[in-house]
Amino acid sequence: MPALIVGNWKMNGLGDDIAEIAQMAAAGAGNGARSLWIAPPFTLIDRSVIVAAGAVKIGGQDCHVKQSGAHTGCVSAAMLADLGAGFVIVGHSERRRDKAESDADVRAKATAGCAAGLEVILCIGETRDQRGAGQTNDVLTSQLAGSLPDDAEALIIAYEPVWAIGTGLIPTLDDVASAHAHIRANLVARYGPAGYGVRVLYGGSVTPANASELLRVSEVGGVLVGGASLTAQSLLAITAAPP
Ligand code: PGA
Repeated sequence: MPALIVGNWKMNGLGDDIAEIAQMAAAGAGNGARSLWIAPPFTLIDRSVIVAAGAVKIGGQDCHVKQSGAHTGCVSAAMLADLGAGFVIVGHSERRRDKAESDADVRAKATAGCAAGLEVILCIGETRDQRGAGQTNDVLTSQLAGSLPDDAEALIIAYEPVWAIGTGLIPTLDDVASAHAHIRANLVARYGPAGYGVRVLYGGSVTPANASELLRVSEVGGVLVGGASLTAQSLLAITAAPP
């Protein structure tokens, strides 16, 4: 499976920044061996879809658990799909932290994303304290048990150690391999053979300098990139990182 590179712009980007996505699309990102997806803020999705011109898949960073209703300020998966988005990120640790999203909430959002025809990137990962206490595998098992949707077909998992996000720190490659092997075993236990088909990304302080070594780790099917995804120059360098 060719690697998938996903950029998460978080709460960054104004109209002028669409030029970065246009540049990524023009560079043929996504047409090579590696696919490139970007989740800009909601406000830029429709314009991003146009400039991405099919070369870069555009997605949302979150969705509501329902497809419509009386929920002021919220955005549904159906609305993302209606804008031309092809995927949605759910369960990012910043939302678990800032919005107190539980595993049950994440599961409902993942189910809503699938129902709207989107691919779903479901994020899990341990905190620094949990890793220090030797609880990483238990935390991953429990997050997966609580948040996996019933259907694995449109599912992608992102393993993002919370302590590695935006810090410049990454786990050792052995630790990445061990977490990914553990996630794979959980997916196969849950979905049977279909669990082998679920792509698992690594996320947390991915840069052009470390992308190659991370992408070479067993069971790493791609990367989810925050800070280094904001410019075409940086993200294209990650898509071009030597295999
Ligand atoms: P980072 O963010 O690459 O800036 O560490 C990754 C993420 O939060 O998905």
